[in-house]
Amino acid sequence: TVCSTPAAVDNVSQYACQRRTTTENHNKMFTDALEVLAESSEFNENEGRCLAFRRAASVLKSLPSAVRSLGATQGLPCLGEHTEAVIEEILQFGRCFKVEEIQCDERYQALKLFTSVFGVGPKTAEKWYRRGLRSFKEILNEPAIQLNKMQRAGFLYYRDISKTVSKAEAQALRCIIEETVHWIMPDAILALTGGFRRGKEYGHDVDFLVTTPELGREEGLLLHGILLYCEHQGTTFDATKLPSCNFEAMDHFEKCFLIVRLYEDQVEGGLQRNPGDSRAWRAIRVDLVVPPVDRYATALLGWTGSRQFVRDLRRFARKERRMLFDNHALYDKTKKMFLSTTTEEDIFVHLGLEYVEPWQRNA
Ligand code: CTP
Ligand code: MN
Ligand code: MN
Ligand code: MN
Repeated sequence: TVCSTPAAVDNVSQYACQRRTTTENHNKMFTDALEVLAESSEFNENEGRCLAFRRAASVLKSLPSAVRSLGATQGLPCLGEHTEAVIEEILQFGRCFKVEEIQCDERYQALKLFTSVFGVGPKTAEKWYRRGLRSFKEILNEPAIQLNKMQRAGFLYYRDISKTVSKAEAQALRCIIEETVHWIMPDAILALTGGFRRGKEYGHDVDFLVTTPELGREEGLLLHGILLYCEHQGTTFDATKLPSCNFEAMDHFEKCFLIVRLYEDQVEGGLQRNPGDSRAWRAIRVDLVVPPVDRYATALLGWTGSRQFVRDLRRFARKERRMLFDNHALYDKTKKMFLSTTTEEDIFVHLGLEYVEPWQRNA
């Protein structure tokens, strides 16, 4: 037999935006292992390797069933030698020794712990590690370390915000934020984005987009009353600029990275709580982004994610269509013009892609 690949696995695109990936991951055993390898590559500043592992994991997530033999991965895109070896090892032994080695590594453990704090990225984590610091206690007791405002809040609310957020908690926050936003601006538009819009049951934060039907009235839209902490960034948006090629670059919309207080009786079924914690509230991370209404669709697509889905949408636009796409705009390099995008569907149409529903973007 020349080919024993099941039909369902045929023609899997190398681009996540041409795959439909629900929250149901049949290959978690493999993708969890690949995520550790990706993360470790990220800590070692090997972006190429990191991306390769993330792409491989993303392809496996899109499969309609579990991989049960190495033969079943024949013809799949983005699966390099390394990934194949990991899959083979897991199929044979039920575990991957390289992954276990990394998980036991002191540096990996420290960097993973440090970057789990709100406001701490790989650079800061590396700096602390090189100073010989290994635990939160050591960091907080080191007089030479100056935490910024964001990091101080990150440590203060660590117990709460390192815990998952449930759908019910996200829904409760939506109601509270909606009420507050509408109190300030009755016709404002609020949309839930991020993982919860993709149908995830749990998240690490809750993401929202806020805008106004009339262009310009979104400027300076602020929240009051419910904020425990606000890392506010004013808009630096320039409508004449071409979309950015750098995926890691932050968009220019006005935004807040918040920590908000959510009360027990605001949530149907109650709060997700730590054992032994009897407080009537918990802290939750919330991202609030305020694009002008004519950028609503690109911002919505960008902030709905997943990161891998959006990353590939941008790569597809550039490589296959000579277009530039980011959270602000879609630009056609051949026609030398911005394309109008009122809805997410418009963006897929311009790119010549089949529409992918939010719940199918869990790449
Ligand atoms: N995003 C972005 N710019 C940022 C941060 C995030 O465009 N500065 C986008 C990401 O591309 C991502 C989406 O916003 O797709 C949501 O990001 P995040 O909240 O980190 O991830 P979720 O997919 O919501 O998953 P989680 O449950 O972990 O929050
Ligand atoms: Mn999120
Ligand atoms: Mn996340
Ligand atoms: Mn977020």
